Amino acid sequence: MKKKILIDQIINTFKKKSIVVDGDKSLSIRFVLFSSLSQGKCSATNLLVSEDVKSAINIIKKLGIKIKLKNKKYEIFGKGLFGYKFQKNLILNAGNSGTTARLMLPLLNNSTDWIKITGDQSLKKRDMSRILKPLKLFGFKFKNNNEKLPLCIKGPKILKPISYTENLGSAQCKSAIMIAALKAKGKTKIKCLPSRNHSELMFNNLMKISTKIYKKNHYELIELNGLKEIKPFKYKIPGDISSASFFIVLTLLSNKSNLIIKDVNTNPSRIGIIKILNMMGSKIKFFNKKNYKGEEISDIYIESNRNLKGIKLNSKINSSAIDEFLLIFLVASISKGISIFDNLGELNKKESKRLDWGIKILRMIGIKVKKIHNDGVKIWGNPKLKLKSSYIIKNYLKDHRIFMVSTIAALTLGGKWSIHDADSFKTSFPNFLKILKSLGAKIK
Ligand code: S3P
Repeated sequence: MKKKILIDQIINTFKKKSIVVDGDKSLSIRFVLFSSLSQGKCSATNLLVSEDVKSAINIIKKLGIKIKLKNKKYEIFGKGLFGYKFQKNLILNAGNSGTTARLMLPLLNNSTDWIKITGDQSLKKRDMSRILKPLKLFGFKFKNNNEKLPLCIKGPKILKPISYTENLGSAQCKSAIMIAALKAKGKTKIKCLPSRNHSELMFNNLMKISTKIYKKNHYELIELNGLKEIKPFKYKIPGDISSASFFIVLTLLSNKSNLIIKDVNTNPSRIGIIKILNMMGSKIKFFNKKNYKGEEISDIYIESNRNLKGIKLNSKINSSAIDEFLLIFLVASISKGISIFDNLGELNKKESKRLDWGIKILRMIGIKVKKIHNDGVKIWGNPKLKLKSSYIIKNYLKDHRIFMVSTIAALTLGGKWSIHDADSFKTSFPNFLKILKSLGAKIK
């Protein structure tokens, strides 16, 4: 296994290239977990086979669900809402995946024994109280010390429906409640701040679980009834906008280049980065738009433009760009003027403390940056930035997005970069380096 990568030259101009990025991680994990609850064979093409999705696959296999790979198509043989087999002393490991950990917990009712859930070093640091709190109201019981992994769970066969207010704008939290609601007798009501809406779209359009969604002021209200059978479904997973974003910023900051990224999921709840970059002066365009099972799919066209201006971002947009802020900070660092981003406390609760890491990387490359209001950042952009020194990125808890953003910085800003934990991108985007090389990147 490669330990680190070395990059000591920027990428040459690339033109008229089109790429396809790997399948959407949020949709792939949801497909795996949701299909295990259906009444029979579900299938998906273009499923992302990254470490995070493999964690989800291994978990449902351990729960007695059969999975087959046939001509690049994954078939998952669901056993209904109460079909899992719980072995004695069961331990389920979610690896690095917060989405898998948080979305699998509500699946684990109806076992007479405790089930132990654990994860890797990074996942063991992450907050689970946001999920434990609503799940306790549904009737789940937990054994743990500090509301972090590892923890033990068990729950009754039929759960109690709840009314719950979710104030973090977390799609994982909202989705965990929606999944528990499937096993509750009666109507569950969730009042939540907006976040990616993939679970709602899959419930309504794939699983045919009627899920009502209303808007009230800046909240969304979601209502669904439990104990309904889930018919088997088929899905074609579109490309991941979070993965595409690395290539969007690569193109934007490169010299006289352009790129088409095909078949990307441009769901409005995920395209914060595009809106932000366009407000900063880029002209990223969507075309060939289509609607697929409620998701919006587009091809994305992007061309180089370093003539960008800083932004004072309205934090209402944060949740639709939550996984892309490291890239946005990078763009802000070469944009004209000051950029201000606020209310980003959630960033420090990701696979690593991404707000702190963003600040650290920008300081390392000589950008003036200040942490403000405890959970925000002020960046003094330098459009003339050209790097000549050596930079080392290590000890970052193998956070895949830190690895990938550092690679993009190295390929666009210059300098000699040595980036450790060279397999960390496989968590979310196994073809990342391969696609970079196809565009001409020299990576040792
Ligand atoms: C995800 C939701 C987001 C995001 C994560 C994937 C999902 O987390 O950061 O990478 O698939 O629901 P939060 O919902 O905790 O903000």
